[in-house]
Amino acid sequence: MPTKIVLGAQWGDEGKAKIVDYLTVDADYVVRFQGGANAGHTVMVGDDTFVFHVIPAGILHEDKACVVSNGVVLDPEVLIAEVDELAQRGVSTQGRLFISHSAHLVMPYHKALDKADEESQGGVSIGTTLRGIGPAYRDKVERGPGFRVMDLLGPGSLSEKLKSRIEAKNALLTRIYGVEPLDEEEIVAKYAGYAELLRPYATDTSMLLNRALDEGRMVLFEGAQGTLLDIDHGTYPFVTSSNTTAGGACTGAGVGPTRIDEVIGVTKAYTTRVGNGPFPTELLDGDGDRIRELGHEYGATTGRPRRCGWFDATILRMAARVNGLTSLALTRLDVLDTVETLKVCTAYRCGDEVLEEFPADPQILERCEPVYEELEGWCEPTTEARRVADLPAKAQAYVDRITDLSRTPISLISVGPARESTIESGS
Ligand code: GDP
Ligand code: IMO
Ligand code: MG
Repeated sequence: MPTKIVLGAQWGDEGKAKIVDYLTVDADYVVRFQGGANAGHTVMVGDDTFVFHVIPAGILHEDKACVVSNGVVLDPEVLIAEVDELAQRGVSTQGRLFISHSAHLVMPYHKALDKADEESQGGVSIGTTLRGIGPAYRDKVERGPGFRVMDLLGPGSLSEKLKSRIEAKNALLTRIYGVEPLDEEEIVAKYAGYAELLRPYATDTSMLLNRALDEGRMVLFEGAQGTLLDIDHGTYPFVTSSNTTAGGACTGAGVGPTRIDEVIGVTKAYTTRVGNGPFPTELLDGDGDRIRELGHEYGATTGRPRRCGWFDATILRMAARVNGLTSLALTRLDVLDTVETLKVCTAYRCGDEVLEEFPADPQILERCEPVYEELEGWCEPTTEARRVADLPAKAQAYVDRITDLSRTPISLISVGPARESTIESGS
């Protein structure tokens, strides 16, 4: 079986977890390679809904192994809560969940700093998830203050290892942000407890995955966030702090690019964004509210209402380019079942110019107006469709138009949150 990366082609929440869960049937390992508990990945199995923030969505398949690799910033509190919740719901992680000993840990001071940064006067409010992601990656890149799973588990006094780090962050919190300091002893005691809980899962996951690949196993990489939230290629500075794009799977898992066979970009049949930043096809009128209500577009991590807009093909062409997409998984087609007239953004108008490609410069993007093409809605339910031929002709025309404009073939169409509401192309 080929090795596949599944990643978001828009601003996150595209339905990646649903697609990963579907594809896990053919996989041996499912790997989270970047981001952290900012992700909210929803999987529906029968009447049960699971939301994962750290553990890969493949965990619900009991014969598969799941990996949280080095590129993830790991919040041990969230991971342990997920392990416990799964156990309570009858899903064991014992012996099949592996955590990279090189992953950086999210510490309480990262969360406090994320909040303080967002609330600070004069700063750019990104509208983060407040999960400590930016401050944790900042420490990783800065080197000295970074704290990894192996540092937590290694020999030596935890109090000694954390003392100067906590003191430095408390100085920042109190002197720069004017907020309360954190309790050093409480953090040390908490993390001493986490160390014992994490120990059985920690290993060299790059080694584990490369050995698995050598043996011909199928590895599925589960992206978090989306292409436009990528630290390099997204709508900077309104992005997350990691590489959400395909290259991130290689650095984030310690696997070479020659090992990757397919890159699947997950996209909604329309567009959403949560948090601040540019969004050219955003609908600030009743149409936006209608899509939000039809699609129950509220964040899985924070519950915030998602901003909604029409499908934007310039974004998809950019996602195809920077990720080398081999195919698309189109989700939430069913949400548009009752919309009479649909619009698709084919390009942007910027002054006298028509731009076919998504501009990297925010000052240009700010002046862009979407160029729309109208398509007739199909106004029939699609959730029961299991083959392309079951879809109404107008829905097929919409899918075909998205394929053409995105310059990428579609391999999967999702018409509902359930596993079985999935159509394979060519069917
Ligand atoms: P992720 O972060 O990309 O994994 O996506 P989220 O879990 O944050 O949000 C996607 C939401 O859409 C979840 O509630 C899914 O259950 C749901 N979903 C996924 N695919 C479909 C679909 O084709 N139709 C509908 N109606 N819902 C879907
Ligand atoms: P999944 O994996 C949608 C957004 C935040 C904010 C920006 C930076 O579920 O698709 P951060 O907390 O990462 O520093 O916030 O990124 N964001 C997401 N939006 N889906 C996500 O994850 C997101 N993770 C972060 O709203 O705009
Ligand atoms: Mg999500």
